[in-house]
Amino acid sequence: MTKQTKKFYQQTRLERLTTLTSEGHLSENNQALFIDSPLLKEDVANSLIENQISQFHLPQGVALNFTIDGENKIIPMVVEEPSVIAACSNAAKIASRNGFTTILEKRELIGQVILKQVPCIEEAKQLIETHVDTLLVLAKEAHPSIHQRGGGLKEVRVSILEDHTLTSEQFLTVYLMIETKDAMGANIINTILEGVTPFLVDLTKGTALMSILSNFNTDALVKATCQIPFDDLTTSTYSGKELAQKIVEASIYAKLDPYRAATHNKGIMNGIDSVVIATGNDPRAVEAGAHAYASRNGRYEGMTTWSIDKKCLIGELTLPMAVGTVGGAISVLPMAKANLELLNVSTSEELARVIICVGLAQNFAALRALVSEGIQKGHMSLHANSLAIQVGAENEEIEEVARLLRESPIMNSALATNLLEQIRK
Ligand code: MEV
Repeated sequence: MTKQTKKFYQQTRLERLTTLTSEGHLSENNQALFIDSPLLKEDVANSLIENQISQFHLPQGVALNFTIDGENKIIPMVVEEPSVIAACSNAAKIASRNGFTTILEKRELIGQVILKQVPCIEEAKQLIETHVDTLLVLAKEAHPSIHQRGGGLKEVRVSILEDHTLTSEQFLTVYLMIETKDAMGANIINTILEGVTPFLVDLTKGTALMSILSNFNTDALVKATCQIPFDDLTTSTYSGKELAQKIVEASIYAKLDPYRAATHNKGIMNGIDSVVIATGNDPRAVEAGAHAYASRNGRYEGMTTWSIDKKCLIGELTLPMAVGTVGGAISVLPMAKANLELLNVSTSEELARVIICVGLAQNFAALRALVSEGIQKGHMSLHANSLAIQVGAENEEIEEVARLLRESPIMNSALATNLLEQIRK
């Protein structure tokens, strides 16, 4: 972001949009779209959900200062919570000397065909393993276009699972690893699963319990790392080394205590969900996969790992990230398409890399505040504007009431009401 007389956060909404456009992040068309934020067309809204009665608005902002794999990124975030975007931008600024680096080895999503009442389960398992070629043919027939594009069924794994608590029932589960290219892929996977299920039932002489994708996408993991020199962590109260050590301790603690892990991870998801929503992806699917991955060691743990190497704080976050850049809601939501353009990503893998970095930055911001000045100072300062609006401030009154609230040692709605009355006098 080039230097402006006013900092980005001090600009009006229209000035911010002009800045983004003049710096080449936003096309003229998308600038116009963001200025108007028009409602979805009636038929689009009606086609997305059932019993549609209205459209619900959430604010969108952008996080700044991100360098991801050497490329500067402006991050669109849709979120209702104050301080998420400011904290994220600030974290990215502190980490900007080395930026964020990602690793994504593959992106195959997982579908399950779950069979029950299979008479000779061990033999059936082996039989499936010797019929992988037939499954590949059936998968291709079920969804030719994804195979034509180089995706589709890539691998088959089979497991026997037994219920030890209630019924001693055994299940034979066939896991299908499916490449969905740039689509989120739910429909592709479920179509392929339903295409192969009759054959599997016939082959095993069992019964199908269900065929459905899994949100625990362990074959679509993305890892983000950052390396922050101690010098960039120094505050007026703490040395960089001290702060780094406390952040490491905070991440160790989040692996030990599920009560803390839940909150630690909620902070990470503040960032992740905001981008997932802004790009028209499914935050529930991403959440489900992330929390399942956080429990992979048999205990629910904090998702990030912070460590120290020489004179740097090193952060790491690895999560399944099954997001898409085409298909589903993405293709019919104009704002989602505009946000993908703003992000300058065209593939699902690029988007996944960005999202994981935002999660890591958000966690860094939260831990840095928590182990130093505490979370309330920054949070309440940004909460001042909402408080002003809640008590009825309008237009310029909002900033004026918020400014006076920030200067005051306490901040509550009674004081905000008083301040508003004084201003109006
Ligand atoms: C608040 O939305 C998120 C935090 O609670 C995260 C954390 O505690 O790590 C600040």
